[in-house]
Amino acid sequence: MVKNAKKEETLTLIDNRTGRSYEIPIQSGTLRAMDLRQVKIDESDFGMVSYDPAFLNTATCRSAITFIDGDKGILQYRGYPIEELAENSTFVEVAYLLIHGELPSKFQLRVWIQDITQHTMLHENIKKFMDGFHHDAHPMGILVSTVSGLSTFYPDAKNIDDPACRRLQVVRLIGKMPTLAALAYRHSVGKPYVYPDNDLSYSGNFLSMMFKMVERKYNPNPILEKALDVLLILHADHEQNASTNVIRCIGSSHVDPFSAAAGAVATLYGPLHGGANEQVLRMLAEIGSIDNVKGYIDSVKKGERRLMGFGHRVYRNYDPRAKIIKRIAEHVFEVTGRNPLLDIALELEKIALNEDYFVQRKLYPNVDFYTGLIYQAMGFPMELFPVLFAIGRVPGWMAQWEEMLKDSEQKIARPRQIYTGPVVRKYIPLDKRA
Ligand code: CMC
Repeated sequence: MVKNAKKEETLTLIDNRTGRSYEIPIQSGTLRAMDLRQVKIDESDFGMVSYDPAFLNTATCRSAITFIDGDKGILQYRGYPIEELAENSTFVEVAYLLIHGELPSKFQLRVWIQDITQHTMLHENIKKFMDGFHHDAHPMGILVSTVSGLSTFYPDAKNIDDPACRRLQVVRLIGKMPTLAALAYRHSVGKPYVYPDNDLSYSGNFLSMMFKMVERKYNPNPILEKALDVLLILHADHEQNASTNVIRCIGSSHVDPFSAAAGAVATLYGPLHGGANEQVLRMLAEIGSIDNVKGYIDSVKKGERRLMGFGHRVYRNYDPRAKIIKRIAEHVFEVTGRNPLLDIALELEKIALNEDYFVQRKLYPNVDFYTGLIYQAMGFPMELFPVLFAIGRVPGWMAQWEEMLKDSEQKIARPRQIYTGPVVRKYIPLDKRA
């Protein structure tokens, strides 16, 4: 029995197999899975383990970075509501907040911007590396490989115990990510690579590396530049999502952060995570017209397909990011013209929000439902949508990776299993097998 726990902060557990009772301490509304280990049938028993496929009800860390209340639709970075950050901050400032825990002073922000812009260039060999990819390689595939490739260009990155070295890698990855993304895109369309323009803002420079042609200097449209910056802010962190869990998990082996981040990018690539924005556009194009929306919803209700851009593991309410994105869409479409797929999306949302199937399961539009429409209107090809998500998520990944390393309770991530295979068998030599 665990001693010294106050009565009211414990859970009494009775094991009906043995009749024994246990008092398990409750901390922050949570049980420690290791406290279950004492629950045994006899001394030879390994002890009870908790079973939670896909971490539906398991906290894997304590974190001071992002707060989400999924029922109320609340998202905060370091205590600041996402709506206020989207309205007043820049992406680079939010990156500082996520990494350092506080908003920067004017001086700190100037130094931070200088640091990041100093690291926007890539080693020339990365271009050669990029050239090796097939002409129609998906830019996310290229990004996974080139992010991991950074670890070979910066071998000092493995000094993860040195705070100054860690900071350098964080700044490098935030600085280089848009350059890698733009190069991946230009490679896929056969256009010459464009070098970073450090006179521009973080988002403006990315637009320049993406879309600059023969003009001397690319001047980003300020409305589109601002819209992109806000979209990056909205993607900057989302507590223990699949890709963040992966960067923490890979990082727990104490590998360098580029190798760990490559795993996070790969996780984000999947259609159930950051790849959903690309799938939303494909879905809208497949629906093709408002007249087909009802039929599409019926097939979702029959379980034949999923409504992409809908539903979320933690939000059982409207995703607060989706609300902001809907507003940004209006500004963007004033510049680019209305995306014809918007009407289909609005109709889908209208019908879905009134259908029992979606209401009962609390399925609402998530961050990916409207982003694709904006990106497409801005001229980004569909394959680049998850890449944009990845650029935005880097500060969150890096903040979570560092928090994990500094957390004395963390060790190499190593879950348990319930073995369901055969019991021990006698080996049969090849010539004796049936
Ligand atoms: N369309 C239709 N039915 C759905 C959907 C959907 N998009 N999402 C969930 N459901 C149903 C699901 O079939 C299940 O029904 P039932 O109880 O009858 O079996 C119920 O809702 C619960 O679904 P779940 O799969 O247990 O929920 P989850 O928390 O494991 O999955 C999700 C969350 C985001 C993977 C899922 O909602 C989904 O596949 N959505 C579509 C893909 C998408 O938009 N992903 C982007 C997520 S937001 C950005 C990010 O964080 O990457």
